[in-house]
Amino acid sequence: MRKKIVAGNWKMYTTVEEGISLVNNLIAGLSKEENLNKTVIVIPPALHLTSIIQTAKNSAGKIHVGAQNCYFEKEGAYTGEISPRMLSHAGVEYVILGHSERRQYFNESNQLLAKKTIAVLEEKMTPIYCCGETLEQRESGKYKDVIKAQIEEGLFDLSAAQISNIIVAYEPVWAIGTGKTASPEQAQEIHAFIRSLFALKYGAAIAEQLPILYGGSVKPGNAAELFSQADIDGGLVGGAALKADDFLGIINA
Ligand code: 13P
Repeated sequence: MRKKIVAGNWKMYTTVEEGISLVNNLIAGLSKEENLNKTVIVIPPALHLTSIIQTAKNSAGKIHVGAQNCYFEKEGAYTGEISPRMLSHAGVEYVILGHSERRQYFNESNQLLAKKTIAVLEEKMTPIYCCGETLEQRESGKYKDVIKAQIEEGLFDLSAAQISNIIVAYEPVWAIGTGKTASPEQAQEIHAFIRSLFALKYGAAIAEQLPILYGGSVKPGNAAELFSQADIDGGLVGGAALKADDFLGIINA
């Protein structure tokens, strides 16, 4: 049985103070949960990480912290970048890679993401590797080819042991921040397709263990139905992760 994962991607929202207060509200909401049988991850802007990691220490291990991006080099003259080594030493456990906003606005390619993925794994953190098609790609009917290329070019140089330490997130670009959620059937179709790609390359046992999250307008009201699909192992949540009540509602879904 794969454990459910709920991750909140804060994107470029909140000040440090607002972020700390959000995490304190999450801690208060989760304090009643005796056996939290899911992994909860908050993913604030890089500036917030050290403060949020400190705050999350009061959660009795219920809240984990991730970063939204990093570079692939350990260190060097790369003004403005943050290395996986810096993140892991700060206590970061997860790193989102290849979010569609990084692909779209910062031209991140599958080849660049392949390097970042290896660098993150080398620092013993877990990459949350994102894939997903645009509306145009979905309407053209070629969306599976797009997702296949994102997965193969970004991840398939990894060994089976490395693949056992990643999380994949399927985020259809047309569903991000638009209020248009993929239907549970649409999402399940792609999740099963992604799992089949891993089964072909790495074998059924590894594919069965791979957590695949859905992202794109996940809300307290639609999370339960999405998460009940056979191949959906939780969510990567944007907007609704910025309000403690909404995020707690999704965690409890
Ligand atoms: P929304 O939940 O705001 O649609 O964002 C999804 C997302 O991009 C999470 O990474």
